[in-house]
Amino acid sequence: MKIGVIGAGRIGGNCARQAVKAGHDVMLSFARDLSKLDALAAELGSARASAGSPAEAAAFAEVLILSVPWGAIPEALLLAGDLSGKILVDTTNQFGSGPKPRAGETAASFNAARMPGARYVKSFNTLTSSFQAEAAGRTGEDRVVQWVCGDDEPAKEIVARVIEEMGYVPVDLGATATCAVMEAPRRPGAVYGEEYRAADAQAVVDAVRAGAEIPSTPTYG
Ligand SMILES: NC(=O)c1ccc[n+]([C@@H]2O[C@H](COP(=O)([O-])OP(=O)(O)OC[C@H]3O[C@@H](n4cnc5c(N)ncnc54)[C@H](OP(=O)(O)O)[C@@H]3O)[C@@H](O)[C@H]2O)c1
Repeated sequence: MKIGVIGAGRIGGNCARQAVKAGHDVMLSFARDLSKLDALAAELGSARASAGSPAEAAAFAEVLILSVPWGAIPEALLLAGDLSGKILVDTTNQFGSGPKPRAGETAASFNAARMPGARYVKSFNTLTSSFQAEAAGRTGEDRVVQWVCGDDEPAKEIVARVIEEMGYVPVDLGATATCAVMEAPRRPGAVYGEEYRAADAQAVVDAVRAGAEIPSTPTYG
């Protein structure tokens, strides 16, 4: 599959690395220092990785990963251009500058609304970049959950397959409007910032669906 990356830093760079390991082709884009994109593309190998502009990455991508600081989202979207019909995976969290969601509005709903036409999916945002990089190598019951939300079911299924190939367990938490538990800040009653494994995920999904409190955070030895 062709994976475009807008913002190939800690999170986007790890996604690119894991995608290439899984046999996907990646195009990296959007940097103040373009030599960083070339260096990562060279590290990942020219057979599978290249660098381009955000518009080129968007045109190339079957799945486009947006992984930029919150305040850089408007510029990234402007440079990416029309995203109609494009599956877009948003890894961002609402830290720093830039317009923010209203009280009670999820960051996922807020961002989906500023990407008109995109087939919006949110994931890769709940765990630190170093943990994501380390955990991608795990197998079996130790694999970690990457929570997913979005309003386009087929898009979520495609993204879930890619997440699984990258080495994680994709778990669908539901719609953009009801995914607050996977959003910052880290707090009791949320999955943001916490490690989850498959065995503990369904109870969270059930609670979110029921509008109930999620079970207490699991700990792993
Ligand atoms: N780091 C984490 O642990 C973590 C975990 C979960 C989610 N997230 C979220 O994922 C998103 C990406 O985070 P990250 O930690 O991967 O960020 P990062 O390492 O700073 O990467 C951001 C990328 O965007 C590029 N970029 C292009 N224009 C930029 C601009 N105007 N300002 C800043 N960067 C620009 C940077 O390249 P240049 O430096 O060359 O400009 C860099 O490659 C954020 O929304 C963050 O909240 C982060």
